[in-house]
Amino acid sequence: MSQDLASLYAQHVATLRQRADKALALGGFDHLLIAASTPLRMFLDDRDYPFVANPHFRHWLPLTDTPGSWVVYTPGSKPKLIFVQPRDYWHVVPAAPSGYWVEQFDITIVRTNAEAVAALPKGHRAVIAPECPSIDGVEANNPEAVVNYLHWHRSYKTPYELVLMREASRIGTYAHRAAEKAFRAGESEFGIQMAYLDAAQQTEAELPYSNIVCLNEHGAVLHYTNFDRSAPKQARSFLIDAGASKSGYASDITRTYAATGHQEFQALIDSMERAQQSFAAKVKAGQSYPELHIHAHHVLADVLREHGVIRMSAESAVQSGVTSAFFPHGLGHPIGLQVHDVAGFQVNESGGFIPRPEGHPYLRMTRMLEPGMVVTIEPGLYFIDMLLEELRGKPVASDVDWNKVDAYRPYGGIRIEDDVVCTSGEPENLTRNAFAALS
Ligand code: GLY
Ligand code: MN
Repeated sequence: MSQDLASLYAQHVATLRQRADKALALGGFDHLLIAASTPLRMFLDDRDYPFVANPHFRHWLPLTDTPGSWVVYTPGSKPKLIFVQPRDYWHVVPAAPSGYWVEQFDITIVRTNAEAVAALPKGHRAVIAPECPSIDGVEANNPEAVVNYLHWHRSYKTPYELVLMREASRIGTYAHRAAEKAFRAGESEFGIQMAYLDAAQQTEAELPYSNIVCLNEHGAVLHYTNFDRSAPKQARSFLIDAGASKSGYASDITRTYAATGHQEFQALIDSMERAQQSFAAKVKAGQSYPELHIHAHHVLADVLREHGVIRMSAESAVQSGVTSAFFPHGLGHPIGLQVHDVAGFQVNESGGFIPRPEGHPYLRMTRMLEPGMVVTIEPGLYFIDMLLEELRGKPVASDVDWNKVDAYRPYGGIRIEDDVVCTSGEPENLTRNAFAALS
């Protein structure tokens, strides 16, 4: 595997070099300087927030914990890594560079952030770095032409990136299995989270996002991250939205389970499962993602009708906003180095913004799908008090079976989420493949 990874990585770096050549030429720059960045200090404190390396830096290197370091690329030259290895007995110092990636870089080891900055080439520089916290001695300029070009092309994953994303899915699905087992054993949300972290062997700070672990009604809070310490008297349902990281790449996975004996909720999950798989099957080149999102609204309207929650046609449920009360987020988003990856709205490599369909303010992807893109497909149906109150005040409320709604409220909601690669043929479902490989 590491031999394969080394050659895939060499191809990956060659691709990034070609992209950087073009991006720099667009802005008339001599050098591309990418900061790993430095940790953000807590206000009035001597502690830092968990460090998250600049995704541009992680695009070049599988290094996630090397604050102060820099990637330097000058067209025509081998990429350089200015690697900060501080003299420090308070913290763990990054290990000396080793592994499949080192051959692709000229590496200079320095002891301080200031030495790293001093080692950067002079000239007309595109400096890709967060503006906060600032890095003494160098100004981030994040030139728009360069960033837009790089973000656009980041949408198309290289074979090396897909290997890492498959691995992030493998770790995530393995931990999902452990979490389901903990749920079936009657654990609290906190206990389930501990089982997940233990199986993933990742700390919370290493995960690509904060896990969402919901029992019962908590499933109706889209980003519920409270982790109740005690188990409810009766666990009826379990929604878990949790991913894993691999060398800077993310997986993003959601599953919903009914406790034994809750057949009506299980039947709704089964319908959602069929709907979700039908959407994932449409991740094909030339498919408009916003059209897929609108299609999902129609299919979910049918699911709501089949289960007796609404009485109107799919068309009028979508038109009147009824489906948005039950499915109030987007169908999904691009994923890669960031769980919500860049360029979901971009018109082309020069930038631009493709607006969302009217009435769908939370959709995070408005582009056409193309080979190499990876997106999540995560339809949901929820019973959210706030949105149901609003719906009750509208004329269409008479076409909603409120007794059914009340019967489903104690279950919170359902979301099922896979990460899917668009190819030139059939989609590659990273999540389903990873779950299948476990059993
Ligand atoms: N998994 C969390 C989200 O996509 O928002
Ligand atoms: Mn997601």
